[in-house]
Amino acid sequence: MPSEPVAIASDHAGFELKSTLSQDLRALGFDVLDLGTHNGTESVDYPDFAAAMASALASGKAARGVLVCGTGIGISIAANRHPHVRAAVVHDALGARLTRQHNDANVICFGGRMIGSEVARDCLRIFLETEFEGGRHLRRVQKLSVTG
Ligand code: RB5
Repeated sequence: MPSEPVAIASDHAGFELKSTLSQDLRALGFDVLDLGTHNGTESVDYPDFAAAMASALASGKAARGVLVCGTGIGISIAANRHPHVRAAVVHDALGARLTRQHNDANVICFGGRMIGSEVARDCLRIFLETEFEGGRHLRRVQKLSVTG
């Protein structure tokens, strides 16, 4: 398992799962860049944490990231507005594997109110272990960066 920093962020609805996944990342030997939020009681806005993730990736402070909100949907939409982010909402092991192999996703998103913590932990490990396949998928991923 590589040890480059992994950034992690959530809103209040994702705070509990973020805490669990942060512990796992540390146990796997990763440096964890925790971008907040820092409690599950204060209501906050998920786009702010997606923006913090996008900045961390852009600056090279982290190469990959984990985002959690209630559904995983809002925070992934927000993250994907940044052209260098490929964020995927994942619900199962197959999705975690294929979004690395085919989409070269650099951010995995979870719904803290949607997914069991054991499933999310399994998905995160697979996401971190799986390489991009390149080949025909590279051409398609490159097309994701086309704007306008
Ligand atoms: C917060 O209540 C909730 O709307 C947010 O966590 C997320 O699920 C939005 O997509």
